[in-house]
Amino acid sequence: MSTSLLKVYLTRVMLPPVLDRLKGLCDLNINPNDRTLTREELLDAVKDIDVLVPNGPDRIDAEVLEAAPKLKLIANFGVGYNNIDVDAATRLGIPVTNTPGVLSEATADIAWGLLMSVARRISEGDRMIRGDGWKGWGPLQLLGSDVTGATLGLIGLGSIGKAMIPRAKGFAMKIIYWNRTRLDPADEKELGIEYVSKDALLSSADFVSLHVALVPETRHLISEPELRLMKPSAFLINTTRGPVVDEKALVAALESGTIAGAGLDVFENEPAVEPDLMHLENVAMAPHLGSATVGTRIKMGMLVVDNCEALFTEKPYPDIVNAEVL
Ligand code: 8YV
Repeated sequence: MSTSLLKVYLTRVMLPPVLDRLKGLCDLNINPNDRTLTREELLDAVKDIDVLVPNGPDRIDAEVLEAAPKLKLIANFGVGYNNIDVDAATRLGIPVTNTPGVLSEATADIAWGLLMSVARRISEGDRMIRGDGWKGWGPLQLLGSDVTGATLGLIGLGSIGKAMIPRAKGFAMKIIYWNRTRLDPADEKELGIEYVSKDALLSSADFVSLHVALVPETRHLISEPELRLMKPSAFLINTTRGPVVDEKALVAALESGTIAGAGLDVFENEPAVEPDLMHLENVAMAPHLGSATVGTRIKMGMLVVDNCEALFTEKPYPDIVNAEVL
């Protein structure tokens, strides 16, 4: 296959080291705007491309794929690929790749940051200072919850869930987990974690952190009944995908004191956020920053290029998610 002729389209720009590597390998085309493409722009952009590199907010469904008759590869910039209709891609014979592994530590860092922020009321204190509401130290002011020695419940134990373990150990936490498939007991022992049922995890953890992928079975995995199982002193941390949590039910639980607080990096209808979340002090929020470090975004981009290169050189794809297409 002639590499220089293949047309690669990035729906958003990437960092210079990634672009420099791509430039030498293909006919590189990039969305010139600093925003997600509109539907019309996306349908137009894919018309004569060979490789599409989408981002999380791009909805790559059957209509988009059918508008791209020359498409040979979708190299997603991100580990989660719920933005892509993989079944439709498979039907059309198009391989889909993602960027696993390289963003686990950065995402666990954001989960940890949100956990600390909401438990110790850091962003609430920041708002107090900026709002000119700080009148000086007080013995009962902004008293938070202890993190050290608390129980962390991990729902989902893929590579991001696992990256939470050393962080929690640094804070002498007890770590319990629930996952679709249980680890080998010997591995649990080595990791120092205990398997429990989902209900037992929800009712005993001080911090519940979500690390499952968004698939039909995990949509609204945390809704009113699950929130009701949690302790009134417990916190929910979500850095995976917004729709894993029923955001309206979460707002109700935060307002009524069913749970103590939440740390959220993802939202059900990004970039829209449930309006009532905005007024709640017991929520720490970040705008989907999980993988947002320079080093991580370069590593993700390099994996995208590795997968493109596999197409150009007819080698096996390092990170294919629909291998049945080959
Ligand atoms: C990205 C992510 O910010 O990898 C993922 O699944 O959610 C994030 O790393 C986003 O998807 C970039 O396209």
